[in-house]
Amino acid sequence: MADYRFPGEWMKDNMVLEPKITAEAINQLESFEMKEDDVLIASYPKTGTTWAQELIWLLNNNADMKKALSVPVYERIPYVEYKSDGVHSNLEMLLKTQRPYMMKTHLPSDIFQKQIKAGKVKIIVIIRNPKDTLVSLYHFYRIHRGLGNFQGSWNDFFELYKTKHLIYGDYFEWYASWLEYKEKSNIKLLKYEDMHHRMSDVIDDLLQFLGKSLSEDSIADIIKHLTFDSMSSNDMVNYHRSSFFDMKVSSFMRKGIIGDWKNYFSDEQSAVVDKSYKDTFDALGVRLEFE
Ligand code: A3P
Repeated sequence: MADYRFPGEWMKDNMVLEPKITAEAINQLESFEMKEDDVLIASYPKTGTTWAQELIWLLNNNADMKKALSVPVYERIPYVEYKSDGVHSNLEMLLKTQRPYMMKTHLPSDIFQKQIKAGKVKIIVIIRNPKDTLVSLYHFYRIHRGLGNFQGSWNDFFELYKTKHLIYGDYFEWYASWLEYKEKSNIKLLKYEDMHHRMSDVIDDLLQFLGKSLSEDSIADIIKHLTFDSMSSNDMVNYHRSSFFDMKVSSFMRKGIIGDWKNYFSDEQSAVVDKSYKDTFDALGVRLEFE
């Protein structure tokens, strides 16, 4: 099998990073002060982050559709450890704007010890079935120019998972890092599958968490705006304008379904993930059912 691992210089604290995420940007975040009205969305890649970002931004900004339809979501909620322009971290750019800040990160909680301890910023952690997440990440690797447009098969990709060579580290270690703080009142866990099955309840719950309220009409507009078809054709969220991805290979908004893993995983691969799920989540005392 070809060696699809990334070079050693892309490693920090056991995480594989892309060249546009530098140790310097991470150090900057570690000491950054976050305040009460700030919101941080933390997710392992491909867990429905963009969907959650669009939802949370609209709830936190009085359902401002005009702005949502004219400013890309990655500008409204910057990916803070990334250097979109290759020079300045997005956090640096954010600091030039006005508070409150809305931010996205794919980093584990280790980096945010200072902010977690201070207990001010509202943190929303997104989680999705690990198997669907891995399938989505496999296709993401294929379209991502920065990741060298991964040429391997699903089985090759699964080897990278098994040997802990995926970006942002191991899914289970990543969630163990965040779920340790699940009881804190300023931290909320949001399940991708709940956005599918019970979006209205998710919205009520998030509005309460954010300390916001919206009319029934605005909520209905948001739900319509967030459907997979609507988001797939919305250039402010579908990354069609981004040069980072080769959408001829696959789309950023790929399938948007639950259970696609059944089309990829062998019984053996499924058992590997099930064991990690049981070991990690039992130890954390967390029960989350995935289909
Ligand atoms: P698939 O690759 O399984 O289709 P992220 O934003 O964290 O990168 O996650 C991307 C995943 O979320 C993709 O999953 C994408 O299709 C899915 N997604 C994005 N918007 C969605 C929506 N409105 N409804 C359902 N899934 C959505």
